[in-house]
Amino acid sequence: MATVQEAFLRAFHATHPAVTTRAMARGRSADGRSSYELLRDRVPGCTRVLDLGCGDGLLLELLATSGPPRTVLAGVDLSAEELALARRRPGLGPAALCAARAQQLPFSAARFDGVVSHMALMLMGEAEQVAAELARVLEPGGTLAVVLGGGAADGGTEAYGEFLRLARPLFRAAPAEQQIPSLGDRRLRTREGWDAVFGPAGFGPVAWETVRIDLTGSPEQVWATVSGFYDLGPLDPDVRADLRSRFAAESAELALPDGRIPCAMTVHLATATRT
Ligand SMILES: C[S@@+](CC[C@H](N)C(=O)[O-])C[C@H]1O[C@@H](n2cnc3c(N)ncnc32)[C@H](O)[C@@H]1O
Repeated sequence: MATVQEAFLRAFHATHPAVTTRAMARGRSADGRSSYELLRDRVPGCTRVLDLGCGDGLLLELLATSGPPRTVLAGVDLSAEELALARRRPGLGPAALCAARAQQLPFSAARFDGVVSHMALMLMGEAEQVAAELARVLEPGGTLAVVLGGGAADGGTEAYGEFLRLARPLFRAAPAEQQIPSLGDRRLRTREGWDAVFGPAGFGPVAWETVRIDLTGSPEQVWATVSGFYDLGPLDPDVRADLRSRFAAESAELALPDGRIPCAMTVHLATATRT
């Protein structure tokens, strides 16, 4: 069953393909890895790997170009535009890239020994159905490793927190047709909620780690990051322009001596084994 939420996501990614990699690829954890690299490193020995909600294929390309030879690499996404960008990545020639819903995966049982998903699972509805599909396509002993958004870091004292303070009242005040629909299942944002969904589907207890990702950068880079997490498109153009100029002014007050704007977010790194 396609939902209002999925129609929203398809439309957003059709007009903003690669929005997540533009926002997050330059982010770094304390040890210097991006959140994509952290996830790649959670499936080090897996040779048959699926990326769920693969977007423009950055994570698949990392998997293809490092680690053991991957005999099967597959990506699914709702967005034809994101998949078109993934198909252009030189490393992904042999990968199976499919327009499909996570709730109905076009793969046979036990096809994979690893499933990864970066910033996508927390947007998906019908969480039990997604968990059942992941349990079906992962072989027993296979690894599910996921990065989930955890919001602004450092108590919101950096630019992402500032953006949220400015943007939230604008979304709340916008007319109904400009509202972003509520996306995903909130249970998947906590360890307890995760186990409540994935335990009955056939997964062991989740290993849950919260990591700070530094996204400090030039004012343009930081705007691309924070505005990429939300669809500002439906807001009135003057409201959008006002948000951008207020954000530029407020974040400039946080600027480091070299002119860069401090920005950071947390992500949850969740790993579970198919029992
Ligand atoms: C925030 S983007 C992340 C893209 C990519 N993983 C990355 O981090 O660069 C979320 C992606 O999940 C996809 N997605 C959301 N719900 C989905 C579903 N039910 N089935 C398949 N893909 C879905 C969206 O189309 C979108 O490309």
